[in-house]
Amino acid sequence: MNLKKIAIEKDSADDLKTFKSKFLNSPNEIYLDGNSLGKLPVESIKYLNEVINNQWGQNLIRSWNDNWLKLSEKISFKMSKLINSDNAEVLVGESTSVNLYKILYSLLNSCQFKKNLVTDCLNFPSDIYIIEGLKEYTEKKEITILNYNSNLSCNVDVLKKSIQENPGIYCLSLVTYKSSFLYPIKELNEFAENNKSIIVWDCSHAIGVIDIDVKDSKTKAAIGCTYKFLNGGPGSPSFLYVSKEILSHSQNPIKGWFGHLKPFDFENKYKPAENINKFKAGTPSVLSLVPVNTGLDLVLEAGIINIRNKSIELGEYLIKIINIELNKFDVKITSPIESKSRGSHITIQHKEAWKICKLLIKGDKNRKKIIPDFRPENNIRLGYSPLYVSFIDLYETVITIKEILENKEYLKIDDSKYEVT
Ligand SMILES: Cc1ncc(COP(=O)(O)O)c(C=O)c1O
Repeated sequence: MNLKKIAIEKDSADDLKTFKSKFLNSPNEIYLDGNSLGKLPVESIKYLNEVINNQWGQNLIRSWNDNWLKLSEKISFKMSKLINSDNAEVLVGESTSVNLYKILYSLLNSCQFKKNLVTDCLNFPSDIYIIEGLKEYTEKKEITILNYNSNLSCNVDVLKKSIQENPGIYCLSLVTYKSSFLYPIKELNEFAENNKSIIVWDCSHAIGVIDIDVKDSKTKAAIGCTYKFLNGGPGSPSFLYVSKEILSHSQNPIKGWFGHLKPFDFENKYKPAENINKFKAGTPSVLSLVPVNTGLDLVLEAGIINIRNKSIELGEYLIKIINIELNKFDVKITSPIESKSRGSHITIQHKEAWKICKLLIKGDKNRKKIIPDFRPENNIRLGYSPLYVSFIDLYETVITIKEILENKEYLKIDDSKYEVT
């Protein structure tokens, strides 16, 4: 089987291949870290320049009325299209961590659910810290962090048993950051609903690459970053989704002026907005919001189903070449093998993972720089953003890893300066 030829054929048949030119690309570099920070869309440069030079530079304060006050609504509308929610259920603004705090605090205070706060060991540390920080508001002043036999995949039976025995407010990452495990969202939402529970989904590693349909999956609350597969730029604001049925019982713990019913009446008494705007707090970060608009445009133009399909194909191809080319080395795939249980990155483990990452990033005169990312203890995450990663990129990456392992190049790397990038 000629794996290179397969890659070339798949690339030439790829309906999304034209999207790569819509991003700023470095020659001789393969970027496999779009699951952490997405690339810069070319259109965002133009748009940011317009906002900086004309809207801020020239029009100054008048731009709030002319452009900026409507920006957040415009972007939230596009986000609602992407997740198939009503427009009135989504906001884009503030960080994922802050939005998670707002939703969890609000649910704890809404009396709709038992005050049990539960997450699992696969969740992103920031989510776990936030949940820990909220434990004083829970019934027994404690939270639960579920452990499974593995710290890479969820044991759905263990999770369901917990929901039955300890109903309440659950927070899970739809695609887990380490192994890319993808939860069966609809099945779990239905199970939670039947057991007087709610799941708040952190969609950071899923939004822009997984076809999330909040109506079909009966999702009640979700949050997620826009700087990964949505290419919104470093620290771009996250989205927050609260379904209509829980919105009326919800209260934002951060009672800032943008969440007021009439912020520009400047009343001293706080009256929350009656719609999703109640989840706003302060002034929107205009310069960070601007590129989210372009990022969303690109994903909507490509079509989320097409993106998901290409992601699955890339993943299956990557697993195949890893199995064939790296089988004689001590490399282990620690992501789910089944496509329906996997997001858009594949994690491989090797005891020299950190040094292999260093060598990939460095490149040399005969090979491209390859940017994966490293996660302790010995994980290499290979993220493939379908809008700009090709099959041949994955082929070249695996062949480079093979070369590094065959020649034991990692022996030449000094490990005294261990750092996580
Ligand atoms: C799954 C997940 N949740 C939460 C966060 C934190 O996001 P933020 O820094 O926007 O608060 C991240 C950041 O990478 C993440 O990957």
